[in-house]
Amino acid sequence: MKFSRREGVASFLALAATACAPGTLGGAGAGSGQGETLKDLAARSGRRFGSELAFGRPGEDRGSFANPLYAEILERECEVLVPENELKWAWTRPSASTFDFRQFDAMGDYATAKGFALRGHTLFWAPEKWFPQWLVAHDFGAQPIKAAETMLTEHVRTVCRRYGPRIGSYDVVNEAVEPETGALRDTVMTRAMGGGEPMLDLMFHTARSEAPHAQLVYNDYMSWERGTEDETHIAGVLKLLEGFRKRGTPVDALGIQSHIRLLKDAPVAEIVRESEGPWRRFLDAVVAMGYDLVITEFDVNDREAPDDIAIRDRMVADYARAYLDIMLGYEQLGDVLAWGMVDRYSWLTGFDPRADKSIKRGTPYDAQFRAKPLREAIAAAFATASSRHG
Ligand code: G3I
Repeated sequence: MKFSRREGVASFLALAATACAPGTLGGAGAGSGQGETLKDLAARSGRRFGSELAFGRPGEDRGSFANPLYAEILERECEVLVPENELKWAWTRPSASTFDFRQFDAMGDYATAKGFALRGHTLFWAPEKWFPQWLVAHDFGAQPIKAAETMLTEHVRTVCRRYGPRIGSYDVVNEAVEPETGALRDTVMTRAMGGGEPMLDLMFHTARSEAPHAQLVYNDYMSWERGTEDETHIAGVLKLLEGFRKRGTPVDALGIQSHIRLLKDAPVAEIVRESEGPWRRFLDAVVAMGYDLVITEFDVNDREAPDDIAIRDRMVADYARAYLDIMLGYEQLGDVLAWGMVDRYSWLTGFDPRADKSIKRGTPYDAQFRAKPLREAIAAAFATASSRHG
């Protein structure tokens, strides 16, 4: 079921115009969530707000729990945390027969000590480019299906048993659909398993039996920007979700990564106008199949926004506000996680750089740990969202 509230472009722009100036936490108008933390505002709409974090050692300048400036923001604003990298096979599987959880264990201990909930990202990251090298070269032997099943089952069992109820939601499989074709990716693992569908089904069934308490999520980066590749990606994800339902695969939610992108220097309202209709049709189709929604990795790629910082920050905030208003209109949307809270540590700067080579400004806090208009846009979106529990 969808909420009746459908924010128009004009109303979000009007609200966004009341948000605060860069570098302040306050200054916002009525209904913007001024002075309240993101986690409290999210809770009022029946949701949880959180972020990724990284492993780090004291003194290291990273977006980590060991960095007091970063930890202070996490502890103030977030209810749920997810590891940026440390639960991926490239970190936890030094070889086919060994596991190494030292980095994630330290992060999990911090999260538990401070009372955070945890999401598990990810039990399997599907594109071969993100496999550990040994897996790309792995020989699955004379009975590849059996060998691959054993390897995947052992992985899920080991992670789920180690963390038990501390991890309440898993990205069981991440990015299995190839955006260019909409088909499932073809990798050494899917070939060994005799196809992508058997591989995904095995992962979800194993996760359900090993972590029956957990929300099981299929996570991907299809996005609302209009482009042929995005449309093919969306069609492929829908087909995958339909297949899960037909086969009875236990998938609870679609994880929408939400690395939204300002890819042209055009008025935000114009970009939103192009994207909104097709995106709503996609979300409607997903929830009609009975899936919940999770925003798993929210940030804004400001590659094509103007150089001027104030103008850029305004565009980023307005674009985010329009997107979040649409997403928060769905009662099926639960957790909302940012892919980092501070620009200084965001993966976006190194990826797909801006022409002026400046730091990307796609997270709620700037490189000096000051709240930006994006933080206020997120706050205002939660403050004005209908409560998902009526
Ligand atoms: O830690 C090593 C360091 O020792 C080494 O000197 C350095 C040299 O390249 O690399 C460091 O590792 C990097 C790591 O991030 C930690 O900073 C890897 O090269 C780099 O590939 C890795 O990038 C991560 C990327 O996933 C690949 O794992 C990003 O931090 C992370 O934000 C990104 O996250 C993904 C999600 O998992 C899935 N969705 C998309 C999202 C963004 O790409």
